[in-house]
Amino acid sequence: MKRLFILAVLFSSAPVLAVDGMAILQRDCAVCHSLTGPAAQTLKDAWSRKGPDLFYAGNKYRAEWMTAWLQKPQAIRPAGLNYGEHLKAGVKGDEVDTATLPLHPVLAKADAVAVTAELMKLKPHDDLISKEKLESGSISKQMGEMAFDKFYGCLACHQIEPEFGGFSGPELYTAAQRLQPEFMASLIRSPQAWNPKSWMPNKQLTDMGIQKMVRYLDVIGKESANAK
Ligand code: HEC
Ligand code: HEC
Repeated sequence: MKRLFILAVLFSSAPVLAVDGMAILQRDCAVCHSLTGPAAQTLKDAWSRKGPDLFYAGNKYRAEWMTAWLQKPQAIRPAGLNYGEHLKAGVKGDEVDTATLPLHPVLAKADAVAVTAELMKLKPHDDLISKEKLESGSISKQMGEMAFDKFYGCLACHQIEPEFGGFSGPELYTAAQRLQPEFMASLIRSPQAWNPKSWMPNKQLTDMGIQKMVRYLDVIGKESANAK
């Protein structure tokens, strides 16, 4: 009883500390993620990154997705960040060695909220984002797939369903849940404007082609969100 009482006093007199998101980022995240930029300028730098760049997080991610993901991280790049590091020889060619994929640190809710708030302030690429004007409209999944697969060959690197598509780029059936639409448009317009050493090729889509591609990613994103 006495011990309980002491504990109660300890807790009630503890000052309520606001969680310092920037302190967490610098202490626990900066070892793997660039928070200040610039993007890698040489291939060597690009391949030595241990996590995706976060210095333009406020231009890229959806805040609500980030807060949820940090509490329950799941793989986004099926073969890891640097393609080739998690492959093994399989019967039909290379396979992903999922056992070697690292687990991401998990944050408690208050920390996830605080870290997200800090990351969403990082917006050095407002210039690129402001060039993208997305119009509402629709696209059939079939037309989108045709463009994604046959016209532009995006499927070679990206999955549009779990286990379907290439694995050198991030999965895209969750892209619309994770990413701001203007970011997707801008990256498709010019991957190298965001990351000079990106191995995603510029496929020279027209303005209309970009609009349609973002709508298609939205269609498959909604489908995969409903499937969960
Ligand atoms: C050991 C290295 C490492 C540490 C430490 C680390 N991360 Fe990561 N982080 C990664 C890798 C690798 C990915 C990519 C995961 C994937 O694609 O499946 C990632 C992905 C992310 C993503 C999703 C972004 C995207 O586009 O994939 C966010 C947000 C993130 N990390 C935030 C954080 C925060 C906040 C911390 C600190 C609390 C942190 N990370 C600590 C390596 C790390
Ligand atoms: C040669 C492989 C390759 C091809 C082909 C390719 N991409 Fe990518 N893509 C990548 C890589 C790698 C990334 C990760 C970002 C980076 O490295 O700059 C990426 C990133 C993306 C992202 C952002 C995803 C995220 O989670 O950050 C979108 C959206 C995207 N690609 C769409 C497309 C579309 C649409 C096409 C076809 C027009 C395409 N990609 C063709 C490799 C490719």
